Amino acid sequence: MNITKAIIPVAGLGTRFLPATKSQPKEMLTVVDRPVIHYVVEEAVKAGIKQIFLITSSTKRAIEDYFDYNFELEYWLKKREKTKALKSIRPIHHMAEFIFIRQREPKGFGDAILTAKEFVKNEPCAVMLGDDIIDSKLPCIAQLIDVYKRYGDPVVAVKRVKKREIKHFGSVGGTKVEEGVYQLHKIVEKPKPEYAPSLLGIVGRYIITPEILEVLQGFKVPKGKEFGLVEGFDGLLRTKRPAYACEFEGEWYTVGSKQSFLEANIALGLKDKEIRQELKKFLKKNI
Ligand code: UTP
Repeated sequence: MNITKAIIPVAGLGTRFLPATKSQPKEMLTVVDRPVIHYVVEEAVKAGIKQIFLITSSTKRAIEDYFDYNFELEYWLKKREKTKALKSIRPIHHMAEFIFIRQREPKGFGDAILTAKEFVKNEPCAVMLGDDIIDSKLPCIAQLIDVYKRYGDPVVAVKRVKKREIKHFGSVGGTKVEEGVYQLHKIVEKPKPEYAPSLLGIVGRYIITPEILEVLQGFKVPKGKEFGLVEGFDGLLRTKRPAYACEFEGEWYTVGSKQSFLEANIALGLKDKEIRQELKKFLKKNI
């Protein structure tokens, strides 16, 4: 089955990047010349996604505006013959069909995904975190879709991380079934290094099926805790249903903290033809 729908949750509080995210969504922070969420949507569209469900909140209106038609701005740019500027904004609202759904409270990533349950209508779909950029030849989510097409079961994106870093990621244990693809037998959230099933850490791209949403819906959330897709995948594995991990090709940048935000800007800035040379000179001078 073809995957044409993606859920992108963007309703989180962004507490790790305050005060930057006090009055603007972290997904709208600029990396080089466009907001983070633009990269995520672009990746989805390149992979053949047609419908995008953005899970938002009252503090995330800027995201809705970004993907909407801005009549006034287009009118003035046209009138002033600012063709290049006009060209840069015109395609944005045509990128896909955007559907905005409000998450009532920021109760975590898993709750945000469940908000879209009725809308994805019993179809497998992509889930992409709105603050993760993945720079790759073949879009990361397309690499996961390929795995889904071969096996027909949910897929999670993973990358190899250092032992000391695994405590910040979900970790998977599995059997290699082909180059870069593992059938899962274990999945845990943020383990201590000594308990991690492997050093394959989960990053924010998934293919989920209606079964995952069923598991999440039935999940009993421990008091004061949040839940995510790890609980959904774990529920499947416990009932002996298969799921896979795809060790994707590409560079991953997460934009939720100042360190990773700056790394994303430098790495992608160095790939930008317009600024590459000057940026290199600046970096050399300042290191
Ligand atoms: P994070 O795990 O980075 O959480 O969310 P966060 O709340 O945004 O940030 P911190 O940890 O407080 O700094 C990953 C993605 O899931 C969305 C976020 O907007 C982000 O794009 N999310 C998170 C929701 O949509 N709803 C939530 O309740 C939590």
